[in-house]
Amino acid sequence: MKQQDKNFYGVYAEPLLTVQQNMLDELIQELGRIPQEEDGATPAEHLISRIKSAESMCEKLRKRGLPETPEAALSELSDTIGIRIVTHFVGDVYAVLEEIKQADCWEVVNVKDYIALPKPNGYRSLHVIVQLPFGNSEIPFIRGEIQLRTIAMDCWASLEHQMRYKKNIQDTALIQSELLRCAEEMASTDLTMQAIREMIQK
Ligand code: GTP
Ligand code: MG
Repeated sequence: MKQQDKNFYGVYAEPLLTVQQNMLDELIQELGRIPQEEDGATPAEHLISRIKSAESMCEKLRKRGLPETPEAALSELSDTIGIRIVTHFVGDVYAVLEEIKQADCWEVVNVKDYIALPKPNGYRSLHVIVQLPFGNSEIPFIRGEIQLRTIAMDCWASLEHQMRYKKNIQDTALIQSELLRCAEEMASTDLTMQAIREMIQK
């Protein structure tokens, strides 16, 4: 953790890192429980995790009209701890979701399925908000966000994020429709890849 983030999270910095590590350990175990397909592919292509930086946390708190304190961050927001699991195929996203739902160490409090219902800009992913013990008398529980998406969805989201997300650029109708077209082409490729996989497995 960077010094400025440590300064912001203060006494909560160490417990946050511990919870983050516990979440990662649990997810890695769960991924290992998903039966390997005959093609030998593991469900996850990669997995990344971060604690939200002090800078973007304060920006989010300000936008929501909340005090710029770690207490407000930890009790009001769900994504102080964020984990992203990038899967090979669309089917893997839902296999991982089932494992997450069955775990005892947290409670799934919200699932936002932007794959079934993409955002208007074309963004696709499945977001799972889990609640877990934090072991602090002021803040007994915290929430964390687990994002599940395929390589193709991740590709689109990374490029779109880099170009546009939360930036004040001139967002023209042409840019929007071209980005949407890319998202739809990638989603279509994801479905075809899933179908090819099933054909091969038969
Ligand atoms: P924030 O968007 O973080 O304020 O939270 P929210 O409560 O609106 O949740 P939402 O489900 O919209 O998004 C949470 C996270 O999903 C974001 O922090 C991003 O990581 C990702 N995300 C959501 N929408 C987009 C998008 O349009 N493009 C990209 N690249 N990522 C997105
Ligand atoms: Mg949002």
